[in-house]
Amino acid sequence: MAKVYVFDHPLIQHKLTYIREKSTGTKEFRELVDEVATLMAFEATRDLPLQDVEIDTPVSRTTSKVLAGKKLGIIPILRAGIGMVDGILKLIPAAKVGHIGLYRDPETLMPVEYYVKLPSDVEERDFIVVDPMLATGGSAVEAINSLKKRGAKNMKLMCLIAAPEGVKAVEEAHPDVDIYIAALDERLNEKGYIVPGLGDAGDRLFGTK
Ligand code: PRP
Ligand code: URA
Repeated sequence: MAKVYVFDHPLIQHKLTYIREKSTGTKEFRELVDEVATLMAFEATRDLPLQDVEIDTPVSRTTSKVLAGKKLGIIPILRAGIGMVDGILKLIPAAKVGHIGLYRDPETLMPVEYYVKLPSDVEERDFIVVDPMLATGGSAVEAINSLKKRGAKNMKLMCLIAAPEGVKAVEEAHPDVDIYIAALDERLNEKGYIVPGLGDAGDRLFGTK
């Protein structure tokens, strides 16, 4: 069964409050999403494997640790996932970035795929799928389906805010995928928006309406 990690770090919770606040403008919203993505990536990469290397410090020779060179990929779900990519790349700059374009049909709330471009060595990489919002879970489930269909084997899902419905949908469809979130909110409203949530993540990131 998938594990669900809710990051309760004070810095993440503080920044998330200003992300939620409706008077926060586009520039600040974007900066805060970027910062929270970096902080979440720090926690979500806790299990990266290390290997020993021999080095010389100015004082002595010693054995120390470096990352074991695992190939990583970041997959933003378009559009809003894009807002989390640079923040993660600050910590893992060698990661490749693939894109999955999905929008949620406003009537049916079902995800509609319109674009997929992944790194060519998809079978060899571990992926972090990113999207600020996990609402019904339809978009995340579909993005992970899309990745698996193309050969990806290991992935995590990282979102800022989730509704219980979204977490359940991902757990049921993809029990092998761990979920990393900054907040688990109360519920979805009748339009499929997370309550209290932050509104429309794409519109707030890109200043559209
Ligand atoms: C938002 C959000 C997620 C999706 C979540 O995207 O960024 O991708 O909704 O909802 P779900 O869990 O119910 O699928 P949207 O479809 O609004 O597209 P956009 O990012 O292009 O604005
Ligand atoms: N998509 C968003 O951008 N916000 C929500 O609350 C739900 C889906």
